[in-house]
Amino acid sequence: MQFAYDVLQVLYFFLPAYLANMSPVLIGRRFSALAIPMDGGRTLWGKRILGDHKTWRGLLAGIIAGTMVFELQRFLYDTGVAQGLALFDYSAHPLLPGLLMGLGAGIGDAVKSFFKRRIDIEPGESWPVFDQLDFFLGAYVFVSLVYAPPLLLTLASLPVVLIGNIASNAVGYWLGFKKTWI
Ligand code: CTP
Ligand code: MG
Repeated sequence: MQFAYDVLQVLYFFLPAYLANMSPVLIGRRFSALAIPMDGGRTLWGKRILGDHKTWRGLLAGIIAGTMVFELQRFLYDTGVAQGLALFDYSAHPLLPGLLMGLGAGIGDAVKSFFKRRIDIEPGESWPVFDQLDFFLGAYVFVSLVYAPPLLLTLASLPVVLIGNIASNAVGYWLGFKKTWI
């Protein structure tokens, strides 16, 4: 039971990354002036570097969402709420972990798109497992600069992240946010 609770703490820790990953989809067509492809339309070996679905708007939305969710968690921690879920001392780490998780989630997602383009998977076409875990790995690498969650527990949380992501994607599909169910 202790192990399951420890994994739950890791999942709570990465909540900013999870919301960051969802934010580009939730933002929809708003702020269209920022919907500029991050690769600027450039190609590599005749194929787009990242593709049209990786925009500055999405990256920025993730950074803002990650920071906001983390700051909410820090506020809750400071007021004594949900302290049992805390993996570390939120009071001692303002802003930066949230910012890094949001940025890391976006970069992880973009790196995955880079590889999708190389192997001819079109933007929006699914690449199971990689599509679900990209943001999480990116967030882990980036947030490790200030605090590295226990590696074994992080690995143990991957199946939950994978299934949770497929589930929320399916909900997004039914609500009309996503074009593919996986
Ligand atoms: N999105 C964005 N900018 C980002 C990341 C995501 O605008 N940096 C938006 C895009 O509209 C994208 C949607 O969020 O269609 C869902 O993102 P994701 O599932 O990660 O991308 P895919 O559509 O699958 O594209 P790719 O094949 O490049 O991963
Ligand atoms: Mg993605």
